[in-house]
Amino acid sequence: MEVASTVAEMRAIRRAFTGDVGFVPTLGYLHDGHFSLVRAAKEQNEHTVASIFVNPTQFNSPDDFERYPRDDEGDLAQLRGQGVDAVFMPSAGEMYSYDPLTSVDVGEITERLEGEHRPGHFRGVATVVAKLLNVVQPTRAYFGRKDAQQLVVIRRMVRDLHMGVEIVAMTTIREADGLAMSSRNARLSAAEREAALVLSKALRLAAQRWQGGERSGARIRDELQALISGEQRARVDYVSVADTETLEELDSIEGEVLVSLAVHIGEVRLIDNITLPSQMKELL
Ligand code: PAF
Repeated sequence: MEVASTVAEMRAIRRAFTGDVGFVPTLGYLHDGHFSLVRAAKEQNEHTVASIFVNPTQFNSPDDFERYPRDDEGDLAQLRGQGVDAVFMPSAGEMYSYDPLTSVDVGEITERLEGEHRPGHFRGVATVVAKLLNVVQPTRAYFGRKDAQQLVVIRRMVRDLHMGVEIVAMTTIREADGLAMSSRNARLSAAEREAALVLSKALRLAAQRWQGGERSGARIRDELQALISGEQRARVDYVSVADTETLEELDSIEGEVLVSLAVHIGEVRLIDNITLPSQMKELL
């Protein structure tokens, strides 16, 4: 497995690839959710590249950035074991080597949900993903559905800017008890880990209500909010029942709907979501 720490090194590795290239961008501290993306990339492409880069511009506070868990050596060993061909692992200095003037702003879909609570977050994400795609030049890039809004934003950026890459969305990987896998879970105490189950319980309740014929966005939001409020360690940022593309809140549900949550458990902010009805079985 080759490891590139500069843009020039990564470009040289890329030039030597002859077939399709699958790309898995990550913030590191890898878990089974990332490995499911790597496996799909390996199955669908001749070459697989992963990146590990804790992108400072997408964090809302220096504290959150500093506390983001890191394990570069462990991550590299895992990626080697998974049969990845190359890893792009630049420093912040390499990615933002001078004061860049250009950023990617994907408009109003970045201001809702996560964007409302994390101003500037999606400018950081879209800009770094555009830069990574430009460097790696993949045929396909793989993203998890747990970051549902990120996926919507990246798909839109790729479409708007005619980027020649296929975006592949992969199912959220969950622990046996329903907790969505996330690098942030490592920061939960045992009691908080238990409390964090309230997110998947709330999404399961939404799926049950949808299955029972409920089509009022407001009633589903209220029920989920009430359930989460019953958990002492939880503090809700938002409970949303929204259109899957515009991310606008829905009063009345007709087609597919994205039910998403952001909840603080102690000092750790967690997100989770389900698209109904297509992903109903994942939680029922
Ligand atoms: O989802 C992530 O891990 C990050 O937001 C990404 C896509 C690697 C960009 O930094």
